Parts: sequence; structure tokens; C-alpha cells
Amino acid sequence: MTVTLDVSDLRKQFAIGRPAIDGVSFAVPAGEIVVLLGPSGCGKTTTLRCVAGLEHPTDGCISIAGRIVSSPAADVFVPPRLRDLGMVFPILCGVAAHDGAAERGLPAQASQNGSR
Ligand SMILES: Nc1ncnc2c1ncn2[C@@H]1O[C@H](COP(=O)(O)OP(=O)(O)O)[C@@H](O)[C@H]1O
Ligand SMILES: [Mg+2]
Repeated sequence: MTVTLDVSDLRKQFAIGRPAIDGVSFAVPAGEIVVLLGPSGCGKTTTLRCVAGLEHPTDGCISIAGRIVSSPAADVFVPPRLRDLGMVFPILCGVAAHDGAAERGLPAQASQNGSR
């Protein structure tokens, strides 16, 4: 089974406070859909932003399709545009009861509109 995303011992320490994530590891095999679940503030967004390259992790390693895209210990940081992935950001403005419906509808809306 090919592992397309491998996150190993990921850590992100912002300027103040305790680490946003500390020792996060998981692998996403090819073709699988994985959901990160957890209470607000547990580090889901920070983890995904690190995978996308929008945050610089403090420690740990991220590989995409077998290629290391982030490893502070090895001084590796591949910029977002060279990671060959996409990210759909949450729409928070104007959604009175935010239950994720807006995000779930986005791919369908995009394909109906013919946009990519
Ligand atoms: N840019 C930032 N600067 C400082 N602290 C941050 C920043 N982004 C997130 N955090 C903190 O990191 C922790 C994890 O946040 P986040 O990843 O947004 O959690 P989640 O998405 O699970 O709600 C929280 O304590 C949050 O306040
Ligand atoms: Mg979040």
C-alpha cells in the first residue's frame, strides 16, 4: 500500500504559549479520505497548515508521495506551490449556524460551475 501523506512526530511551537501540536503522527494511504477530529484548539488547523506549507513546523517530518516536504532537522521546507496539493478554507463569514454544510457543498458547487 502506497503512503501518500506521512506525518511523523510533528511539533509546532508558536511564539507564546504551549505547543499547538506536539508529537503528531499519522499516515494517509493512497485513495483514503481521512478526517481529523478533536475539540476546538487541539491543533487540527495547525496540522493541516503545516502539511500545506502555510506554517513552518518546529520539529518532525512531513512526506508527500515519498518526498520529504518539511523537516526542520534536515533544513528542508518545500514551499506550498511545490507540494502538489490543494486546500479548501472554511467559510466563516455570513454562515449563521456554522455546521460545515458550506464546506461540504463546495466541491459540488465548483463542479456545477465548471470551476477547478
Ligand atoms: N498563529 C498562531 N499564533 C499563536 N497561536 C496559535 C496560532 N494559530 C493557532 N494557535 C494556537 O494553537 C492551538 C491550536 O489551534 P488550532 O490548530 O487552530 O486548533 P483547532 O483547529 O483544532 O481548533 C490553539 O491554542 C491556538 O490558540
Ligand atoms: Mg481549526
